[in-house]
Amino acid sequence: MPDTTTSIRHDPSASTESFREDVLSGLRGSPRSLPCKHFYDQRGSALFERICKLDEYYLTRTELAIMRRYAPEMGAQIGEGVMLVEYGSGSSIKTRLLLDELINPVAYAPVDISRDHLAMVARILRRDYPSIEILPVAADFTSEFRLPEPKRDYTHAAVFFPGSTIGNFEPRDAQLLLANIARLCGEGGGLLIGIDLDKDPRILELAYDDPAGITAQFNLNLLHRIRNELDADVDIEGFKHVACYNQTRSRMEIFLQSLCDQQIVIDGESFKFTPGEMIHTEYSHKYTIEGFAEIAAAAGLTLRKSWTDEKGYFAVLHFAMLQQV
Ligand code: AVJ
Repeated sequence: MPDTTTSIRHDPSASTESFREDVLSGLRGSPRSLPCKHFYDQRGSALFERICKLDEYYLTRTELAIMRRYAPEMGAQIGEGVMLVEYGSGSSIKTRLLLDELINPVAYAPVDISRDHLAMVARILRRDYPSIEILPVAADFTSEFRLPEPKRDYTHAAVFFPGSTIGNFEPRDAQLLLANIARLCGEGGGLLIGIDLDKDPRILELAYDDPAGITAQFNLNLLHRIRNELDADVDIEGFKHVACYNQTRSRMEIFLQSLCDQQIVIDGESFKFTPGEMIHTEYSHKYTIEGFAEIAAAAGLTLRKSWTDEKGYFAVLHFAMLQQV
């Protein structure tokens, strides 16, 4: 079965106006930045799917291999009678690998901002998993939302957060998000999360700056969006993709770098760029299992089990919520 997923995709409900506001405030800032959540319009989502198939981009296929191999252990670890809450699509093959191994699961609740996407996922999963109550939640998981209420009693709630999306958050924000998960699930709750592990910078830099230039197109797609959706004057050829590993902060830092003296004009407001000037677009944090467990512990989550691949490139971690913090 093809993985039609990718936990992030085109969000038709996100308005042009909030995109415009984010772009304007990001370009007015110093240093300049643009939020990575705006990568994923239709074209950006298609480019991300191409990234996932690149030899250099090991993340998606490594996490999938870990899930294929250890899903039965993960199911047992999560425990009987769960309501599984997924942060993101729910259309992924990883979701099914896990649902197939859960013990008497009560409900499955995908949390996603796109209602249309959720409706489609729910219809398919109801057909394929008739004994699991499918309860889609249209929400942004970075803001507060309430758990749905299944008809049957459940023993505990567990969040499934694959894809190493947590890597996009700075450690402080990652901790806040984990604390929200702990509070949402409450005592006895769990978290199964995918994280990309720290490794040789050469491997990381190739994964985020592939020779075929797909990641460059993905990053530059932000400028396409700005030109097309905001009717801006921008010379896309005047910028290049830059991806550097910051060893001190253990993160990939991704930028759009201006190649010349130029300006971007949006709504009559002009943003001048000097040669070499950067717009920051994304962080992708890399962790050790211990380092991530420490952040999670500060959020009230205790590491129970971890699974990794032979090369130690990626890890899937199970945490338990023991007591309220
Ligand atoms: C979707 C956040 C996991 O950080 O590796 C891929 C996004 N950026 N190539 C990542 C991404 C550049 C990706 N995540």
